[in-house]
Amino acid sequence: MVKISVTDTSGASRDIDAEAGLSLMENIRNNDFDDLAAICGGCCSCCTCHVYVADGWMDKLPCREDDEQYLLEDSPHYKGDSSRLSCQIEVDEGMDGLKVTIAPES
Ligand code: FES
Repeated sequence: MVKISVTDTSGASRDIDAEAGLSLMENIRNNDFDDLAAICGGCCSCCTCHVYVADGWMDKLPCREDDEQYLLEDSPHYKGDSSRLSCQIEVDEGMDGLKVTIAPES
């Protein structure tokens, strides 16, 4: 298991035991964070799985593909490098200690 700290849109934080091989979005949803809507189910077409990655973690995650970048830049809550679509990040063992915050709903 991979420990990931998730902060919801109210500011409450909780550590989850994430499963490697699933997306970050799936792991957050599987741990009952209802404010991550993820309405497209991970098809990279909705931006409702937007999270902010804590400082120091951006370079340790897989790079954004163009589709992800375009969706994020269209979001009113886009915050540059820290913004990611959680459905586009597959969790692996190297992400132990990752901290993310769920972005406000667009
Ligand atoms: S769940 Fe729709 S873009 Fe991630």
